[in-house]
Amino acid sequence: MHPSIQKLYDLAGQKSRKIIGLMSGTSMDGLDIALCEITGAGIQTKVKLLHFTTVAYDKHMKDQISTVFSKSMVSLEQLTLLNPWIALQHASMINEALAKFGVSNSAIDIIASHGQTIYHAPKSLHPNDEFGPATLQIGDGDHLAVHTNIITISDFRQKHIAAGGEGAPLAVYGDYLLCANPDENRLLLNIGGIANYTYLPAGCKLSEVFSTDTGPGNTMMDAFMRIHFNQEYDKDGIIAKQGVVNVDLLNKMKQNSFFQVGLPKTIGPELFNILFIEEAIKNANITNITPSDIMATLNRLTAETIVDAIYMHVPVNDKFKIYTSGGGMHNNLLIEHLHSLMPNVEIISSIEIGIHPDAKEAILFAVLANECIAGSPMYVGGNATKIPITMGKISFPN
Ligand SMILES: Nc1ncnc2c1ncn2[C@@H]1O[C@H](COP(=O)(O)OP(=O)(O)O)[C@@H](O)[C@H]1O
Ligand SMILES: [Mg+2]
Repeated sequence: MHPSIQKLYDLAGQKSRKIIGLMSGTSMDGLDIALCEITGAGIQTKVKLLHFTTVAYDKHMKDQISTVFSKSMVSLEQLTLLNPWIALQHASMINEALAKFGVSNSAIDIIASHGQTIYHAPKSLHPNDEFGPATLQIGDGDHLAVHTNIITISDFRQKHIAAGGEGAPLAVYGDYLLCANPDENRLLLNIGGIANYTYLPAGCKLSEVFSTDTGPGNTMMDAFMRIHFNQEYDKDGIIAKQGVVNVDLLNKMKQNSFFQVGLPKTIGPELFNILFIEEAIKNANITNITPSDIMATLNRLTAETIVDAIYMHVPVNDKFKIYTSGGGMHNNLLIEHLHSLMPNVEIISSIEIGIHPDAKEAILFAVLANECIAGSPMYVGGNATKIPITMGKISFPN
C-alpha cells in the first residue's frame, strides 16, 4: 500500500488530527495559517487552535497576484507560472511559521489549502449559457505537499460546484459543525473582501442551515483606498468617518441587479471593483464628491447590504445574535453602522463562542479537510448542492 494511503487510513481512525488550515481571500492581504488540533468529525467535531499567524503578502507578491486577479483577460503564461509559484511561496510561509511555532513539519498530519482566488464566476456574472458557474483558486496542492512534506488537501470549491453549488460560501459547513447551538439563533457574519453569513436557527438540522454572500465587505473600500489614499485599507474607518454619505450614490449602487435577486447568491471583486464605483458616480450624475465622501458611502453600502441580505432570509421577529469575524469587524465605523441599522440585535465577536475571528476562515478549511478524511458527506439545505459531499483534492508529498 502507498505509505500516504496507509497514513490517511490511520489518520481517519485516530481520535484527533493536527491540521493546518490556510486562507488567503479576495483581500490579498496575506496568508492566514491556523494550526488546529481537531478531535472527532461531523457533529462531534471539536477544534483547538494551537497556533495562528497571518503572514502579510509583500508588495512583490501582491503585484504578481494582481496581474491575474479578477481580470477577464490575462496572460495564460503568467497564470500558468503563478500556479506553482504561489504554492512555493505558501510552502515557505508554512515552513517558517512552523519553525516559529516550534513545531516540526512531521508533527502535522494535513495541510488544508484554500489557494489564492483568481476568478469567481457565478452564473449571474457570465453571459454564456453553455457554461455553468465556475471559480478558480491557484497555488497547486502537489507543490505544497512536496515542499512541506505534508499531505495536502486543496481546491475545495470545485466539488461544491460539481455537486450543483456555486463554490461559495463554504463556511456554512464548519459554521454548522462548530457553532450551531440548541438554544440560540446564531448568525455568523464574516466580513472579508466579500461579506457572507450563515444562519443557524436554534437546534437546527443541517437542512435548515442557510448561507449566502451579501455583497461587498472590504473589497471596494480597499480598492478605493489603494488608488486615492495610497493605503491598503481604511484602518478603523478613519477616512470614511471624515466623509459624509452621499445618498444618491448609495442608492445608485444599491440599484445593481445583484442586490435585487433572491438568496442564496455569491459574488466577487469581478463585480465590486473600482469600475463599479466610477460607473455609479457617473450614472448618478454626481460631479462634486470628495474621496472621503466616497469612502463614507462605500462603508455605508457594505453595512446596508449586509443588513438587507440578513432580513431577506431571517424573519424580522426572530431573536438572534450576530457573531462577527474577518478583517471588516475591525472597521469601527462599519460596526457602528450595523449597530444603528439593527439596534435590537446583539453584535459580538466570534471569540465569544470560542473562535478566533481572524483565524475563523482558516479554521473552517481545516474542518473541511478533517471531514474529507474522517467525516462523511454532508448536505446543507438551502445552499445549492444537490447531493451530500465532502470537499478537497488530496496531494501526497511523494
Ligand atoms: N483595523 C482595521 N480597520 C479597518 N479595516 C480592517 C482592519 N483590519 C483589517 N481590515 C480589513 O480587512 C481586510 C482583510 O480581511 P480578511 O478577513 O483577511 O479578508 P479576506 O478573507 O478577503 O482576505 C483588509 O483588507 C481590510 O480591508
Ligand atoms: Mg485575508
